[in-house]
Amino acid sequence: MVSIDPKAIPGHVACVMDGNGRWAQQRGLPRIEGHKQGEHALFEAVEGALELGIDWLTVYAFSTENWKRPPDEVKFLINFNEEILDRRKHELHEMGVQIRFIGRRDWRVPKGLIRRMDEAAELTRKNKKMVFTIAFNYGGRAEIIDAMKQLMASGVSPDKVTEKMLARQLYDPDMPDVDLMIRTSGEYRTSNFLLWQLAYSEMLFTEELWPDFTRHSMRDAVAEYQSRSRRYGGVTA
Ligand code: FPP
Repeated sequence: MVSIDPKAIPGHVACVMDGNGRWAQQRGLPRIEGHKQGEHALFEAVEGALELGIDWLTVYAFSTENWKRPPDEVKFLINFNEEILDRRKHELHEMGVQIRFIGRRDWRVPKGLIRRMDEAAELTRKNKKMVFTIAFNYGGRAEIIDAMKQLMASGVSPDKVTEKMLARQLYDPDMPDVDLMIRTSGEYRTSNFLLWQLAYSEMLFTEELWPDFTRHSMRDAVAEYQSRSRRYGGVTA
């Protein structure tokens, strides 16, 4: 097993859970079977993160661009997210996980799903082990635009705008910058995920397809993160 330095655990890990469709296609199964297996991988990621002592885990469940998928798949993904929340919120609650959501709550997001999100967030509101954020109908540019609109509406003068002020208007002002972003399935893109929060993140792109992701993949990712040197634009001594 890889060795991990418990004093250098990334505080915030964000995952782009990519490759569900291909995992299914490789097995001659419909794409939705890949998403179903992706649920298992998601809980592996949560448990792996808890074992390592990661404080914040954020996952990309549905992007503002995902509405362009075939209607049947969109419908499946919406129902699937709703169903996972309903089915597994108590389990997450027992694990001490606090569930949060980021993304636009526009007319496209069904009321039933919004209700489930609110129920899951309310149930787990006081949990302290880890904040688990689900990005749904989320886009990084949309988030920055929405933050900008609020800032402008507050009447602040343009020459007074600071990074801190904009960050306070993001969907979750408490969310710290991402330390480690993991994208599975051999795609080397951020795809509009957490654009603001990823500014100084370490990026890890792995070949594994999301349904194959396990708690060991999370450990390996953290070990790789610990082997890198973060300079935030400065130099190391
Ligand atoms: C990307 O694979 C995956 C998704 C668009 C959805 C992932 C969603 C889940 C695992 C469920 C999450 C639910 C909650 C409540 C957090 P893809 O379809 O883009 O795969 P491909 O690139 O191989 O086609």
